Amino acid sequence: MARRYVRDSQGRFAATGTVRLAKTEKALVSRLERAHPGLQLSFHGGREASVLSRIVVPKEARGQGTGSRAMRAITNFADRKGRNVALSPSSDFGGSKKRLTEFYGRFGFKKNKDLAVSETMLREPRRRRR
Ligand SMILES: CC(C)(COP(=O)(O)OP(=O)(O)OC[C@H]1O[C@@H](n2cnc3c(N)ncnc32)[C@H](O)[C@@H]1OP(=O)(O)O)[C@@H](O)C(=O)NCCC(=O)NCCS
Repeated sequence: MARRYVRDSQGRFAATGTVRLAKTEKALVSRLERAHPGLQLSFHGGREASVLSRIVVPKEARGQGTGSRAMRAITNFADRKGRNVALSPSSDFGGSKKRLTEFYGRFGFKKNKDLAVSETMLREPRRRRR
């Protein structure tokens, strides 16, 4: 559980209740697909990394921040869980591979050098400062 904060009438942050944090990749996918109708995600846990094998935003909804919001939710989940996330940019869904590589790079994905992971890009979790 995490508290949700909003600004009150004086601009101060106030707690409004609680939001349940997703415990598994499956729970996160359900939540994101419910929040963004038409969004298609395949995101699964694995031994070395959670793998994002598909993210597709409906054509008419692209370029409005949906894909970035989904990526932030996925990377926040991975940071919280201390998980690597792996993916392979592909032109199979109509996108340009170069543009996709740049897109994922904005969320901390780098060229994968870990031979135990077959995907081409990998993001390590960000450690919390002590
Ligand atoms: C890539 C995708 C998920 C991004 O979702 P989105 O909601 O459009 O993204 P946002 O509005 O948050 O951000 C826009 C960024 O998405 C990326 N993007 C958008 N359309 C894209 C496309 N056709 N090809 C590659 N990247 C694209 C770009 O980085 C863009 O930023 P830019 O305009 O500065 O170049 C979405 O465009 C999509 O579904 N593309 C087709 C499916 C696909 O190729 N999926 C990835 C398979 S590996």
